[in-house]
Amino acid sequence: MKEERIPKHVAIIMDGNGRWATKRGKQRSAGHLAGSKNLEKIAVYAVQRGIKILSVYAFSTDNFKRSASEVDYLMNLFIKMFQTEMKLLKKNGIKVVFSGRKEPLREDVLKSMENIVTKTKENTNGILNICLNYGGQEEIIDATKKIVEDIQKKKFHIEDLNKENFYHYLYQDLPPIDLLIRTSGEYRVSNFMPYQSTYSEFYFTDTLFPDFNEKELDKALLEFNNRDRRFGGNSQK
Ligand code: FPP
Repeated sequence: MKEERIPKHVAIIMDGNGRWATKRGKQRSAGHLAGSKNLEKIAVYAVQRGIKILSVYAFSTDNFKRSASEVDYLMNLFIKMFQTEMKLLKKNGIKVVFSGRKEPLREDVLKSMENIVTKTKENTNGILNICLNYGGQEEIIDATKKIVEDIQKKKFHIEDLNKENFYHYLYQDLPPIDLLIRTSGEYRVSNFMPYQSTYSEFYFTDTLFPDFNEKELDKALLEFNNRDRRFGGNSQK
């Protein structure tokens, strides 16, 4: 039997929390709560399956356009999760990092983010990269600004810039995404990690994020194994 290839970096656009709740006659917030619990479960399972990095889209810069009550609910949920509930991550040796802009996140949200980063920073089994107040075009712009700053300070020479060292200027210096999953039947990438996903395999499923369980991740991994990744070259099969 052929050996299973495990992608090193998997990313999930966690979509469909609202619809999951509405289908059950509940408030959208119930969907976000279910989604957050599922995230913890799936992050642990990913590490158990040998995935080294899991990036997730928790809140985009554009999500601030949602109603104030939904934004507030999500921010309070993040605080609760980062302060108390993510014990499983610690127990399973998962290091948490964040990608995104700080502005205009509330001080208490930023504090809770720092809290979980500090608590998990020695962990080495896997990395959970939580994209919060994240935008992909914004990330490229912010990286460009940092590069210009370094050039002005004579720390970097423009001639040295290449595809590889550009990664050092992104919010987190992580390898490219091998497998990008979007739940809930939407076929968009919505400004999510464009620089890191140029050669990703895309996997779209109708399953709503709170229902995207261990079995569903296994299905995505199986599909990944059936893909022929050529990176612009010839077939590797
Ligand atoms: C998209 O579903 C989901 C979000 C905008 C929020 C994702 C957040 C979580 C899963 C919680 C994460 C928790 C932590 C601790 C990081 P939607 O609201 O757009 O659903 P809809 O398309 O059905 O309306």
